[in-house]
Amino acid sequence: MSHAPASSQSAAWRPDTIVLHAGYDGLQHQRSAAVPIYQTSSFLFENAQHGAELFDLVQEGPVYARTGNPTQVVLEQRIAQLEGGAAALAVASGMAAIDITLATLAQAGDHVILASALYGGTHNLVVHVLQGRGIASTVVARGDSDALRAAITERTKAVFLESVGNPSGEVADIAAIAALAHDHGVAVVVDNTSATPLLIRPLEHGADVVLHSATKYIGGHGAVIGGLIVDGGRFDWNAQTQRYPQLTRPDPAFHHVVFTERYPEAPLLARARTVMLRNAGATLAAHSAFLLLQGLETLALRMERISNNTLAVLDFLQVQPQVARVFHAAVSGHADREQARRYLRGGLIPGLLSFELHGGRAAARQFYDALQLFLRLVNIGDSKSLAAIPAETTHHLLSDAELARVGIAPGLVRLSIGIEHPDDLLADLGQALKQATATSDSSPSSIDGLQEPA
Ligand SMILES: Cc1ncc(COP(=O)(O)O)c(C=O)c1O
Repeated sequence: MSHAPASSQSAAWRPDTIVLHAGYDGLQHQRSAAVPIYQTSSFLFENAQHGAELFDLVQEGPVYARTGNPTQVVLEQRIAQLEGGAAALAVASGMAAIDITLATLAQAGDHVILASALYGGTHNLVVHVLQGRGIASTVVARGDSDALRAAITERTKAVFLESVGNPSGEVADIAAIAALAHDHGVAVVVDNTSATPLLIRPLEHGADVVLHSATKYIGGHGAVIGGLIVDGGRFDWNAQTQRYPQLTRPDPAFHHVVFTERYPEAPLLARARTVMLRNAGATLAAHSAFLLLQGLETLALRMERISNNTLAVLDFLQVQPQVARVFHAAVSGHADREQARRYLRGGLIPGLLSFELHGGRAAARQFYDALQLFLRLVNIGDSKSLAAIPAETTHHLLSDAELARVGIAPGLVRLSIGIEHPDDLLADLGQALKQATATSDSSPSSIDGLQEPA
C-alpha cells in the first residue's frame, strides 16, 4: 500500500486542500478518482515468503482488516497531516480512541490525570471503568497548575484534556499544561473533537497525542461513528524508560519489539495499532472510513459557516429576556476570552455553546420540547443544528457533585450549531424561547452554588 503523498507539494498544503487530496493517489488504486472502499476482511499473500515477511514485519502492508485497510489509511494520513502529526490511527469510535490511547500508555497500577472539563463519557471511562482495571485517576480543576503539579506521581502516564470542552466551551491552556506535564516527563493527550484542527492544532502547543471523535465535525453528516488517534511523534519516550517501559523495552505482546526502536517516528501509534487494536479489535469499518472521508472533504467550509452561525446565535441569545447566562469563549466577560484569541486559528470560533434559562430545569425542558428546527439528540458537530440537555443525557451518569465539578447545571441547554441559514436558526430559537414560560424552579443553577462552566 502506497503511503506516499499525492505530490511533492503536499507538505505545504493548507487544511482546505489537505482534506480533499492528502494521502491518496488514484493512480495507485485502479485510477479511481474517489477513494475506493476496500470491502474485504483479508489481503492476499503473493506466496508463502510474502506472507512470512508481512508477519515478521520485514515488509509493510495490510494483512487482515482488523488492524488496517487502505480506505482507512487515506483517512489516517489526512488527519495526521491536518493535525501536523507523524501518524494516525482510525478506530471504531471516539471512545475507542480514548480507551486505546490510555490503554497503550497505562496499565494496572498506573495513574491518569484529567485536567479540564470533559465529555461525560470520557469522565465515566476514566474515573469509573479504568479504575476497575486498576488505573487510578485524579480530576484537577482547570487552570489549577498547583493541583496539577501535586497530582503527578511516578505512576502518572498521561495528562488528558479537551482543547475546547464539551459542553462547557472552555478553551484549555494547552501550552501551560503541556509545559508542566513535560517538566515531569508525562505525555499530554488532547481530545480535539470540539475544536477540530481548523480551529486549534494542539500539537503546535505542546500536546503529544491528539484524539477525535470523528463522529462529530470530521464526518459532519451524523451518519457514522468513528475515532482517530494522532501521534505527534515528538515526545521523548526514551528519556522516560521507567515511566513508559511498554514503548521502550521489548514488548512480548508483539514480537518482543521495542517500539521506540522499530517505529521511532510514532511509537505510541504503532503500539496502539499492533497491540491494542489487534488484540481488542475496535476496528473502523472500511465503509465508515469512506463516509468519514466524504464528510472530511468539506470540513474547512463547514467550520467557517458554523463559526459565523455561532456568532449570530450568541448575539441573539445574549439579549433574550428568558436567557440567564450564555457560555461560550467568544462571549464578552468569559474567563477564556483572551485564551481563545491566543489559540483559535483563522478568526473561527467553536460551534458549541450552552446557556441557562431564568426558569431553570423546567424552562429548559419547555424550550427544548418546543424546538422545531434544532434536532433533539445527543450528538455534536453535525451540519444540522442540534440541542441537548446534558444533565439528563450525556452527563446523566454523573452524580450531582460530579456535575457540579464539571460545571453543569441541571437546566443547562447545549447547542451544536450547524450550517443552516442563520435566520432560520434564530427564528427557531426565538419561538422556542417564547414557550419557555416556567418561572424559576428550585433546581440549582451555576449562579448559586455550582462551579461556573467558564
Ligand atoms: C469531546 C468528545 N470526545 C469523545 C466522544 C466520544 O466519541 P464517540 O461518540 O464517537 O465514541 C464524544 C462524544 O460525544 C465527545 O463529545
